[in-house]
Amino acid sequence: MPQITGWESAQPVPTHHQFNHFLAAHNGHLYMDDFDLMQMFEMSPVPESPLPSPLELVYLPLIRWRIAEMQRIFDEVIDEVGYAGKFHYAYASKANAAEEVIRTTLGAGAHHEMSSTIDVDVAKLMVERGLLQSDKMVICNGFKPTGSRYAQNIRDLKRYYHANTIPIVEDLSEIPPLIQSQLPFEVGLRQKSYGNHATIYAMDDANSRFGMSVADMLTAADYIDASPNLILRIYHGMVGSQITSEEAFKDRLTPPMQMYARLKKQHPDLTIFNFGGGMPVPQTLDFDFDYKQFVRLLLTTMQTICQEQGVDVPDVMGEFGRYTSAEHGAHIFRIVNDKTNESDLPWYIIDGSIMSSFPDVWALKEHFTVLPLNHLDKPFQQVQLGGITCDSDDVYPPKGSDSPLYLPVDTDELYIGFFSVGAYQEMLGGVRGSKHCMLPEAPELIVDKDSNGQHIYELIAGQDEKKVLENLGYR
Ligand SMILES: Cc1ncc(COP(=O)(O)O)c(C=O)c1O
Repeated sequence: MPQITGWESAQPVPTHHQFNHFLAAHNGHLYMDDFDLMQMFEMSPVPESPLPSPLELVYLPLIRWRIAEMQRIFDEVIDEVGYAGKFHYAYASKANAAEEVIRTTLGAGAHHEMSSTIDVDVAKLMVERGLLQSDKMVICNGFKPTGSRYAQNIRDLKRYYHANTIPIVEDLSEIPPLIQSQLPFEVGLRQKSYGNHATIYAMDDANSRFGMSVADMLTAADYIDASPNLILRIYHGMVGSQITSEEAFKDRLTPPMQMYARLKKQHPDLTIFNFGGGMPVPQTLDFDFDYKQFVRLLLTTMQTICQEQGVDVPDVMGEFGRYTSAEHGAHIFRIVNDKTNESDLPWYIIDGSIMSSFPDVWALKEHFTVLPLNHLDKPFQQVQLGGITCDSDDVYPPKGSDSPLYLPVDTDELYIGFFSVGAYQEMLGGVRGSKHCMLPEAPELIVDKDSNGQHIYELIAGQDEKKVLENLGYR
C-alpha cells in the first residue's frame, strides 16, 4: 500500500481538518499543535521579522508529549496485567543529539543512551548543568575497543562525574578494562539479536556486527560475576528499527526475553530487560501501530516466559530514538518556481535541497509527511517537488514511489513543510559543514512553551556565504 504523505485530493482541505495528532488546518493555514506556522513568515513572532526561508523548525513540546505518552501507556498496562516490574524510558541520542533535544529529554525524566565518545562529553556537560543526576541511567552502547577514547571517557564519566554510567558490553574484550578500572560499574550485556529468529540459538545466525553470541553471553555473565567491581544489571537485545506490527515486534523480542530468563536463573543481579530501539513513530499519515497493544503483548509474554523459568519478571527499558525526536522537527521551504515542461506532473521547485536535508528520502526511499502552510482552503493538484540543486535525485516523492503528492495550485508565496523529520535526518545530513551544491544551512527556530503555556522562541542563525566558502578552504 502506498504511504499517505499529505492531502490526497484536488479539493481544498476543510477547515479544522486534523491530519494527525499535531497537524491541523484552520482557515487555510496549517497549525502544528496550537502554533500557526504561517505566522513565522507573515507576522514574525521573533524580532527578526519576517523569518527567512528555508527554515528548520524545532518544536520541543512534542518531545515531552511523546515521552509522557509512552510512560502513561506502560503505567496503564503494568496496572492492567499486574506486572511486577517497572518501566524505564531512555532517549537514544543518536537520533538527534542537539542540545535543545537532550536538555528536553532529560528534563522530561528520560534516562540517556549513547554510542560515542562525544556523547560522553555531552553527558558531562549535562551533569555540570545539573540535568543528569545519578537517578538517571547513562547507557553506553557502541563499540568500546581497549584503549579507545570512548572506553576511557566512559570510565571518566563514572570516576569524576559520578554519573550512573552503565556500559553495555558488545564484545568480551570490553570487560577486562572495566575490571582493571576498579570502579564499581553496573554493566549490561548485548546479545546479537537483530532480525526475526525462532529460538535463542537462531539469533547466533544473524549477520550483525552488534552484540555477542549465546556462548559469549554466558561466558561474559560468568566473568562479570567473578569480578569484584562489576554487577550484571541489564540484558540488551535490539531486534530492528521502525517495526510497524505489534505482533511482529513481540515475536522478534521473544527469543531475547527467553535468553533474559535463562541468564536471570544463574545471575540474580540481572533486573532489567532492555529492548533497545525499534519503536515506530508516524512519519506519514497512514500509521496505525497500537502502542498499548504492543506493550500488553510484551509484558504478558515476559510474564509467561519468566513464570515458566521460575524467575521474577524484570524491569523493562526501551531506548527510544526515532519515537522521541522524529515529530518535533520540521523543515519549511518556499516554492520558488512552478514549472510545466511536458514532464508527467508539474514541478514545484523549493528553495533548498531534499536530498541533503532528508538523506533517507534519497538513500532509503523513505517518505515523510509534506503539507502546505498556507492556501489549504484552495484547490490542490498533483505535483512533484524538486530541490534547487542540480541533482536529478533531489526530488520528492522519492523515485519509484507510488504515493501521490498534492499541493495547492496557487503557488503565490506558497510555503510547504516536511514534517516528522527530527530523527536522524539532520545527524546524517550533517550540522553546519558544506552541503551539496554549496547550499548554506538554513536558520533554525526553536519553539517551546513557558509555564503559562505561551510560546517562547529562540532563533539560531544559519550559514552565510562567507562561512560556506571558508569551510571549503576559500579564505
Ligand atoms: C543500541 C541502539 N539503541 C537504540 C537505537 C534507537 O533506535 P530507534 O531510533 O529505532 O528508536 C539504536 C538505533 O540504531 C541503537 O543502535
